[in-house]
Amino acid sequence: MSFYDISRRPRRLRRSLAMRELVSQTRLHPSDLILPLFVADGLDDKREIASMPGQYQHTIETLKAIGHEALEAGVRCVDLFGVPLEEDKDAEGSAGLREDGILNRALREMRAEFGDDLVIMADTCLDEFTDHGHCGVEGVDKYGNHVVLNDATVDLYAKMALAQAEAGAHIVSPSGMMDGQVAVIRAALDEAGWYDVAIMAYSAKYASAFYGPFRDAVGSSLTGDRRTYQQDPANARESLLEVQLDIEEGADMVMVKPAMPYLDVLAEVATSSPVPVAAYQVSGEYAMLHAAARNGWLELERTMMESLTSIKRAGADQILTYFAIDAAKALHG
Ligand code: PBG
Repeated sequence: MSFYDISRRPRRLRRSLAMRELVSQTRLHPSDLILPLFVADGLDDKREIASMPGQYQHTIETLKAIGHEALEAGVRCVDLFGVPLEEDKDAEGSAGLREDGILNRALREMRAEFGDDLVIMADTCLDEFTDHGHCGVEGVDKYGNHVVLNDATVDLYAKMALAQAEAGAHIVSPSGMMDGQVAVIRAALDEAGWYDVAIMAYSAKYASAFYGPFRDAVGSSLTGDRRTYQQDPANARESLLEVQLDIEEGADMVMVKPAMPYLDVLAEVATSSPVPVAAYQVSGEYAMLHAAARNGWLELERTMMESLTSIKRAGADQILTYFAIDAAKALHG
């Protein structure tokens, strides 16, 4: 007999690990995880990124090695970002388009190494390759203002996507938030016969301060910000428009980025999207957990798994995360 008359006792289903696992509604799996990787030109060996402990600028050789480690842990996809030599940057980011540019070289070697066993995704954006650090080309608008030009930029994205398809990318991923980028890339790929190369669209990408460590990771030349092309953190509705447009334009998968500060947006997109919805746990989200763990303020493994579970629970089908290998290993126990 209990003192109070409590017949509904939700704690019953929390009593044991077996009971909790029985009723668990969200399950992470290693194949949900996509590992972003950086490959840098002119390195003798991989170099750790100070603000992202355990993450590196890779050489093509160490990139292959980490690809194998990811695959062995059960991760099925890597997303490659190129870091060119400083002297190869220019106003148009042409090193990103050239066949012998670092990203295209890396794509070619990774596809040769892994074939179709590991899905090779390419970042399709100019910011790593431009000397001003913007995601597109600069020019002057009708009012005489300096702007990042939309249509001239998407022309370059189409060429970049073609070069990446030729280099062996299974997926190209336009991340520059230019209008019409998915349509223009899809048309260029189809015209050249690359029907089977998929597009993961960075559809709802916010102008976020959580990208800070990424700028170290790619040696970004950006001064200023990207607020004239990435979304305002205050807005949710336009994410639905961006997702809708990208799907109409031919996106095979859409993405919300960053993840944890935008779980509301992710949840909304996930309810209505007819294509897979990915979320990107960005560099700052990774760096925060590591920094707090280094201070002894948070437990790294538990916060890592909780953050990924919350992103999945909000509706993500895939999660791009720098924790991919660690989390996959933790899932194996
Ligand atoms: C730009 C790009 C960025 C990231 C991925 N692609 C940076 C930006 O938009 O400023 C950020 C990823 C991260 O922070 O982990 N092409």
